[in-house]
Amino acid sequence: MNFAERYGPWALIAGASEGTGRSFAQLIASRGVNCILLGRREEPLLELAREIRERSLVDCVTGSVDLAAADAMERIVALVGPREVGLLVLNAGADPNGALFLDRDIESWLGLAQRNVMATMRCCHHFARSMKPRGRGGLLLVNSGACYGGAPYMAAYAGTKAFGLCFGDALWAELQPQGIDVLTLVLGQTDTPAFRKLLADKGLPVPDKLASPDDVAATGLERLAQGPVHHWGLADDEAGYAPSSAAARRTRIGMVARMTRRVFGGGT
Ligand SMILES: NC(=O)c1ccc[n+]([C@@H]2O[C@H](COP(=O)([O-])OP(=O)(O)OC[C@H]3O[C@@H](n4cnc5c(N)ncnc54)[C@H](OP(=O)(O)O)[C@@H]3O)[C@@H](O)[C@H]2O)c1
Repeated sequence: MNFAERYGPWALIAGASEGTGRSFAQLIASRGVNCILLGRREEPLLELAREIRERSLVDCVTGSVDLAAADAMERIVALVGPREVGLLVLNAGADPNGALFLDRDIESWLGLAQRNVMATMRCCHHFARSMKPRGRGGLLLVNSGACYGGAPYMAAYAGTKAFGLCFGDALWAELQPQGIDVLTLVLGQTDTPAFRKLLADKGLPVPDKLASPDDVAATGLERLAQGPVHHWGLADDEAGYAPSSAAARRTRIGMVARMTRRVFGGGT
């Protein structure tokens, strides 16, 4: 099966309007799969849909949905209608706060959890159920190095991303035998508008070595059939940053804390 036969006729990309989500949509469309583009802001989605229709032969549908809202899944189901989704890319998921847990209202963190945990579960459950009888399809969950452990300034974010990692591992084990590919794509610092905005809000310079969204998306699609996980920049047999002993976790937290304090805490 080629890409479109394996993952078509429609892909749903949640968080498609910019950065890695936009690159995923462009690449998926160029491989002959129709796209359902989802995000909160309508205008950039409409613009991307116009661009995709001009450049490729595929169709595109857009929908403004806040994944943190209680009715998100109902709205997604209504938007998708009878279209057969063979590929689900859950890209939306960054933390716009970059703050200590107690320095934000609980509602900010609950919204993050609603989007990264509850909406992820609902979407995977709904769409993988319809992929199963077809015996084909793909789920691509965009994650972060934060999934391997917590650190200051990312308590809720790391918690939701850790959920994503374990959830993806389990789904891979359950669904791979059914013909459904599952990949958790773990990113490092990537040149997205959301990341640039966070840096600008904190008055920080843009780091030198950021991954490009196009490269990240191309790698994600290339690795989709080789789950459960791909860590950006690391080979399959490299360990990543997932220590298990208490002592090793303390060391890791200290190491990551130096970075998060520098980035989010103004060096404090
Ligand atoms: N950039 C990095 O350095 C980096 C590093 C590690 C991991 N990651 C991961 O990569 C993914 C993409 O990150 P990003 O930097 O591009 O930021 P992001 O804030 O996840 O934005 C990506 C897309 O998601 C949409 N989105 C955000 N919140 C949404 C919501 N509540 N409902 C619907 N759509 C929503 C945004 O459009 P709207 O604003 O219009 O909704 C945008 O199109 C995330 O999963 C993140 O955890 C990024």
